[in-house]
Amino acid sequence: HSLKEHNTFGVDASARYFAAVSTLEDLKSVMNFAKSNNLPTLMLGGGSNVLFTKNFEGVAIQINFKGIEETILSDDEVLVKAQAGENWHSFVQFCLQKNYGGLENLSLIPGNVGTSPMQNIGAYGTEIKDTFAGCTVLNLLTGETEEFSHEKCRFGYRDSVFKQEGKGKYIILEVSFRLSRRNHVIRAGYGAIQSELENMGVTNPGIQDISTAVINIRKSKLPDPKVLGNAGSFFKNPTIPAEQFRYVQERFPGIPNYPAGNLVKVPAGWLIEQCGWKGKQIGNVASHELQALVIVNKTGNASGKEIFDFSTKIIDSVKEKFGIELEREVNII
Ligand code: EPU
Repeated sequence: HSLKEHNTFGVDASARYFAAVSTLEDLKSVMNFAKSNNLPTLMLGGGSNVLFTKNFEGVAIQINFKGIEETILSDDEVLVKAQAGENWHSFVQFCLQKNYGGLENLSLIPGNVGTSPMQNIGAYGTEIKDTFAGCTVLNLLTGETEEFSHEKCRFGYRDSVFKQEGKGKYIILEVSFRLSRRNHVIRAGYGAIQSELENMGVTNPGIQDISTAVINIRKSKLPDPKVLGNAGSFFKNPTIPAEQFRYVQERFPGIPNYPAGNLVKVPAGWLIEQCGWKGKQIGNVASHELQALVIVNKTGNASGKEIFDFSTKIIDSVKEKFGIELEREVNII
């Protein structure tokens, strides 16, 4: 079964078996099929954070659970629970239509609700950990469902328990968010948002304005996967010890940086651009001309291996120039 439609890179890989499931019963029976045939399984969300470097010799499972439920908690707050297969951006739009605040900065992020906690999706000054209330998962060892609290998810920058000790052990079924119904907190501090609001002529932004500003910014910088295959940021922004940062800064005084506890975070996009990669193409693969952190399937014919090799070249040159090791954010299969 072709996975081309199931990864936003548009890489032409295949899975030995493919199942789209929309109920817990279906999911359990597919898991049993895989177990009894000794086959590995792979969960597909929106396919927006995965790179297939070879065919998958197991069962690829698309989680199609749909539905959104709201519980009013008070005049100020609402709990909104969405099933894993809901498209993330549609879910954000649903919340905005109801005037529920908290997710507007995360507009237009590709992928599904079910994968959002995995890497604690974040953009423009917000991460899902800021509004996350809990999630229900299927424990693959016990076959039972379990509740994961905020604390149990151990969110970090682009990180959670589901990428660490919990990796491969759970399937996220539904996710709840605690959102505001009035007196919304407006997060307009991020530089790009401020200038976009100015462009829009908005001085007193509401949550809808923030969403519009974020959509405009993303559309201006980030390629639409439907037009140009990509998986958003290919690498994480590295955090390095302050001492190492000072050493690099001495040689490259213009290096942008953000404090991150005892560490300093530097934008990978800047490092990659400084190495001359921005807009550069090798074969079918390129670094995006407007945002070097994004690797694109430039011709539509790139193989996963080609994209992976391109990313290795970037890692090597950043390492050589800055002594900083980039880490891939995209899941490599
Ligand atoms: N920069 C460059 N050259 C580039 C790209 C960026 O010099 O080619 C510099 C910018 O000038 C700026 C800094 O790097 O000083 C940061 O750039 P930007 O605001 O575009 O954000 P980013 O750090 O590159 C992160 C997230 C994005 C998210 C944006 C906005 C990561 C790995 N990526 O990118 O997330 O949308 O911030 O909050 O943290 C994604 O995960 O797919 C994604 C797009």
